[in-house]
Amino acid sequence: DQNQEELKQEYCKTLLSTLPKERWFGSSYLYKYNGFWLSPEMLPGLIACQNNFQAQDTDVLLISTPKSGTTWLKALTFTLANRKIYPINQNHPLLKQNPHSLMPIMEFFFSPEKLNPDLSCPLGRLYSSHCPLALLPESVLKSGCKIVYLCRNIKDTFVSYWHFSKKLGAEASLEEFFYMFCEGMSLSGPVWDHLLGYWRESLENPEKVLFLKYEALQEKPSFHLKLLAEFMGCPISPEEETCGFVDEVLGLCSFDNLSNLEVNKSGTFWTVRNEMFFRKGKVGDWKNYLTSEMAERIDHITAQKFFGSGLSL
Ligand code: A3P
Repeated sequence: DQNQEELKQEYCKTLLSTLPKERWFGSSYLYKYNGFWLSPEMLPGLIACQNNFQAQDTDVLLISTPKSGTTWLKALTFTLANRKIYPINQNHPLLKQNPHSLMPIMEFFFSPEKLNPDLSCPLGRLYSSHCPLALLPESVLKSGCKIVYLCRNIKDTFVSYWHFSKKLGAEASLEEFFYMFCEGMSLSGPVWDHLLGYWRESLENPEKVLFLKYEALQEKPSFHLKLLAEFMGCPISPEEETCGFVDEVLGLCSFDNLSNLEVNKSGTFWTVRNEMFFRKGKVGDWKNYLTSEMAERIDHITAQKFFGSGLSL
């Protein structure tokens, strides 16, 4: 009821006021909660999820580090999961809507103001999050809910994050941003801890977590699309393959196709202009922005953090 809602809002405000914070862009801050830097937009929803969210066995949850290709993954998974109701033709939802508008973000749809969102969906629930493993609602890990995790070379992730933050209005210089990023202060950061959480879970529970890398998706798109479909429980049939379905999905969801659509040139998602989700979509663009010292610093942190884990990026 109203009273309970107000109490929850008050709780969130009080919580934020007790957490360490760092300037992100404009008057926006990141808050350090249980070891991770989160935005005030996601934190209350995330806590509400931790307390109330019931994942279901047939759910598929997409999790990524910000700026690692989430938009692409959303387009691919939406197309795969809904192909029976949305065949690929000129009426496909992706031609009219940005991929982010086509599925809920866990920490946004489930907020203190909205404890029982209607997630019903005829073909199972598909939703996304940037939530670190350690902060996931218990039911996500305990249920049969599957997690598709996407990450990317950390230097490219940083460069993409830097451009995105600039477009949001960040005033800090590349050097200042770089310093903060390396100290772990980025949305859902430290990025290394985010990655390691899901990497370890994917090793222990490969049927639960599919661990994908942006570079691998770029290098072998057909292979990974088939892997993705199989993991999500909607494998691509031999008939579909013969009919060219794989290439159709990859074409529809390609950077060139999506970034040139009117909706992605002019529309908005939440407070973000859709075009901001599409920049270059290339592997290795960090070479155009980072000095060799910067590259070495990230490589050094990465080597230290990932030592012994078997993970490389
Ligand atoms: P760049 O800034 O390096 O170009 P996210 O979707 O997680 O916000 O990540 C954004 C990054 O993914 C951007 O990288 C963006 O250009 C790239 N991207 C967006 N859509 C893509 C697509 N369909 N295929 C490949 N890369 C894509």
